[in-house]
Formats: sequence, C-alpha cells, structure tokens
Amino acid sequence: MACEVESAYIQPTDTRPDPTIQVAQGIPVIDLSPLDSGDKSQVNQLVEEVKAALKEWRMFFVVNHGIPADIRQNADEKIAQFFALPLEEKLKVQRDFKDTLGYFNKELTHNTKDWVEVYDYFVNSPVELPANAEADCPKMVTLANKRPENPLGFVEACDAYGKEAERLGFRLLEVIALSLGLPSKRFQAYFENSGSFNRVNHYPPCPSPSLVLGKGCHTDASALTVLATDNVSGLEIKRKDGKWLKVNPLPGAYIINTGEAMNVFSNGYYESLEHRVVANTNQHRYSMGFSFGPASHVMVKPLKELVNELNPPKFKGFMWGKFYRSRRNSNFLRLNAENLEARHFKINQ
Ligand SMILES: [Fe+2]
Repeated sequence: MACEVESAYIQPTDTRPDPTIQVAQGIPVIDLSPLDSGDKSQVNQLVEEVKAALKEWRMFFVVNHGIPADIRQNADEKIAQFFALPLEEKLKVQRDFKDTLGYFNKELTHNTKDWVEVYDYFVNSPVELPANAEADCPKMVTLANKRPENPLGFVEACDAYGKEAERLGFRLLEVIALSLGLPSKRFQAYFENSGSFNRVNHYPPCPSPSLVLGKGCHTDASALTVLATDNVSGLEIKRKDGKWLKVNPLPGAYIINTGEAMNVFSNGYYESLEHRVVANTNQHRYSMGFSFGPASHVMVKPLKELVNELNPPKFKGFMWGKFYRSRRNSNFLRLNAENLEARHFKINQ
C-alpha cells in the first residue's frame, strides 16, 4: 500500500468522509439463544425482534450467535499474519479478472480505489459460475480457492471460520423466513452449496483519511452479510432519511445486514443497507464479511408466497450467478456503468 495517497484513491468531493457524523444509538442487539432453547414463545419474540430490526435499521448486532470464540480468534491471528507478509508473497495468490478469488489491493467501488487490501475465498470451494456476466453466456467455469502457503495454518483457519459463518447464516435465514410468514426452511435449498464467499479485509493506516474511503458506499449483493470486525471503528451506515451514522463495534457480537438478494426475495420488504468504511490515520483495522448468497443457478425473484394481486412483484427475476459476476467485475474495471443493484430489475408499477 502506498504511503502517499495516489489520485486513484481520492473520492469525488460529494462522497468524501464527513468527520462530523454521529455515532448510531440504539442499534438492536439480538440474542439468538432462543433458537437453542426451542422455547416457542421465545423464538416468536426473536422473530419479531429481527423483523423490527431489519425494517428499521436493515441491520443488527447478534450475540449468542454460536460461532466458537477460538475459531474466530485463530482466524483473526492468521489473517493479521497474512497481511503482514511482504507484498510479493501475497501477490502469489492474487485475484484476476477471470478468477475473482484471492488477494487484491486494487479494489474499486464506483470506479475509485478503496483504501484496503482483501483476500476472498469461497466457503464451499470449488464453485461453478457463469464465465462472464453477459445475459446469454452459456459457458460455466469452475473456480477454486487460491491457497497461500504462508502463514502456516491460514487456510485451515479461514475454512473453519467460513463454515461457522455459513452455519450462522443458515440460522438467520430460518429466522428471516419465519419473519416473512414462511416455513423456516424456505430459503434452505437456494443456499445449499452456494458460491458464498468470505472477504477478509485489512484497512491500513492512511495519511489522508479525509480524502479516501476504506470501502466506498455500496449495498451488498448477498441476501445477508455476517460481518466480523475488530475493535477499531470504521463502518458507517446510511439511514432511510439519507443521514450517515458511525457504527461502533460491539465486542463479541457480529453485525448482520441485508443485501440485494434479500431485497428481491422479500419483494422489497427487507431493503438492502447502504454502507461504507472510513479510513483512519494510525490504526490498522481488520474485518471479515461473509457474503451469503444463493447458489449460481438460482433465479432470484420475489417469493411467490409474498406476491399477489394487491402486492405484485416489484422485481424481475435474474440468475444469481450472472448478477454476482457483474458485481465482481465492477471491482476490477472502471466500467461505464453503475454497480448492478436490485433497483435495476425493478418493475415499473
Ligand atoms: Fe459491504
């Protein structure tokens, strides 16, 4: 990472960080332990809490989430060791345009470089994906994780954490299904053996944090994201009224937010969260975002139980693998187009 801010990192004036924004107060903290107790009234209460949190905030903290602390701690340690390696070592597992997995330090959001280095890996590697994002692309390719040799134990630590994040994702999908009045396993088949990936982020200290973003404003393509952060602040969220707020980490908790796929599946009932990450002058920040999406072949469209004459579908369907491909391409290239989002599939009513 350069020690000076190159022009490619500098945000347009209207998207630069605002140092005056406030810390969010009252983000719901949701305890998942009722899922283990099996107590029906407690589960019903949990379902209502999740519904209220997603409607109001599009996100919440989750505690008693079931991810073992030692698995998380081991992943955190190995990740810090990986990013501390010399650049040439990390570049041995570099991502490229055809193969979107591995290490990358030239990530773009809305055509501006993010002040971050990342390592992406599938939780169920290998994964079959469309060769490109063209609507009529019949060719599929198989992508597998790039496995760095160093540090020792990195791959195993990442795999173990990824499985736990996915397990939490399935539990949350059950609660969300219930909150939509659906059977708890309604989403299960769509998400089995998916191409969901975990993104490991390192935001290095930045000499000019007022000019750059660690990650530009975006919505996640996923149905939901399980975000693990260290104790360094950086995440900011956009409320429905357009106001930005900082999210301070809650030690031991994970941050859950909804993305584009859930927006479409729920026919707009659960909207996706706009968010960004700011940089800072003197602290390294590490995070992991498990992006839980359906399998490549799944047609993402409003669930049939949620639409009727009075509430017609708000979105056209799209094949998940192609949507995913398009979003990933925009991380590499300066495209003359906006990020693909659910609104691009909106049906005019
Ligand atoms: Fe995100």
